[in-house]
Amino acid sequence: MLTNKIAPSILAADYANFETELKKIEASGSEYVHLDIMDGHFVPNISFGADVVASMRPHSKLIFDCHLMVANPENHIDNFVRAGADIMTIHVESSQHIHGALQKIRAAGVKAGVVLNPGTPVSSIAHILELVDQVLVMTVNPGFGGQAFIPEMLEKIKEIVVLRAAKGLSFDIEVDGGIDDKTIALAKAAGANVFVAGSYVFKGNVAERVATLREVLNG
Ligand code: DX5
Ligand code: ZN
Repeated sequence: MLTNKIAPSILAADYANFETELKKIEASGSEYVHLDIMDGHFVPNISFGADVVASMRPHSKLIFDCHLMVANPENHIDNFVRAGADIMTIHVESSQHIHGALQKIRAAGVKAGVVLNPGTPVSSIAHILELVDQVLVMTVNPGFGGQAFIPEMLEKIKEIVVLRAAKGLSFDIEVDGGIDDKTIALAKAAGANVFVAGSYVFKGNVAERVATLREVLNG
């Protein structure tokens, strides 16, 4: 049975106070912290890299859900394993060798995830699903927080649910982008069970916002 998990994205937090922000996320009862890694190449923006993740690691027991928006992610897997990633999710569009890259993540003892940009079809991951613990459906174009949820992605989530059942698999389905107290209900109804939220959580009181999301999920 897949359980619902909330993953506040630290992209929307105060970068000068990661330790405090991590404590707030932990106190909110969130299962994950979502760490957005952007290289200024695969996506136009630059965020932070493995050294910053490593420096956060001693300050939190949260599951580190690392979303790599980087070109050729296979070149960075070792660094993020050493940094303490618990889940490493890479874009199908970012690697010429997605199958090998996912194998490498799992061989390192880290949970492997694959991400689809809004324009990328489900068929692009049909033959690698046995290798993943999580499929992330982008519900905005990656690179920036604070964008509007793209409702057409709900169909994509439903398609993945059907494919997962057909293959007898049990990976999590995560959504990322524009998740708030309204869109989380739509994503859950479509079949997602891991919910990333950046600006919604950090533009208010973290504990209160996460509690509201949880109420909607339990509602
Ligand atoms: C976007 C990132 C997201 C981002 C979501 O490229 O992958 O994780 O933090 O931010 P919101 O929740 O503000 O859309
Ligand atoms: Zn993300």
